[in-house]
Amino acid sequence: MINIAIDGPSGAGKSTVAKAVAKKLGFIYVDTGALYRAIGVNALRLGYDTTDREKVVSTLKDVKLDLRYINGEQRVILNGEDVSEAIRLPEASMAASNVSAIPEVRQFLFDLQRSLAAENNCIMDGRDIGTVVLPNADLKLFLTASPEERAMRRHRELIQRGTPVDYEVLLEEIKQRDYNDSHRAIAPLKPADDAIIVDTSGNTLEESIENVLALIKEKLGIDTEN
Ligand code: DC
Repeated sequence: MINIAIDGPSGAGKSTVAKAVAKKLGFIYVDTGALYRAIGVNALRLGYDTTDREKVVSTLKDVKLDLRYINGEQRVILNGEDVSEAIRLPEASMAASNVSAIPEVRQFLFDLQRSLAAENNCIMDGRDIGTVVLPNADLKLFLTASPEERAMRRHRELIQRGTPVDYEVLLEEIKQRDYNDSHRAIAPLKPADDAIIVDTSGNTLEESIENVLALIKEKLGIDTEN
């Protein structure tokens, strides 16, 4: 199976780029952040503080997570319920970031991610895919952009959706999450030694997608023109 790892901070465009590229290649797209989000949402629903390691770990024995692909779209199924929308609510982001710092949560999700990669040609996006989950991935990309650019993109996206949030608030939140994700003791956000850094600052999404497709062609010899 061919496995492509895409890591990077939140808001760098990983999921949109990975999704579009996966479609062109006919690969499945695995959004691993969604798995952390599902664990976070489950803990929130139980009324737990998502930084409380003991409480969060106690939830894992009752969690069954599945990823399903409907028309190429990843859906996240938590104990039989499709939570694909619930995990996108604003409170799910920080909850995911919090639970992702808990080693037992990472271990819990590790096997699921590994087996998806073993069974499918895939593009997997996350924070530690190239460093921990798929250290032997065929290609590792680290997609990044400045915090200001990422906050601006998120700002535009929320305006389009009719739920505007103050730019400064978004910027602060992005910086906080970057700090959390890159300073945790376990599997911190960082490029693998053999990752190619792709800075998407100043790019349109189309340009970023083209960049990544060109790298795939160059490094893996997979042509995606038709
Ligand atoms: O990609 P995302 O924003 O949906 O991820 C949500 C949180 O999950 C993010 O703050 C960091 C964490 N995460 C992680 O630690 N490891 C991954 N492979 C994916 C996400």
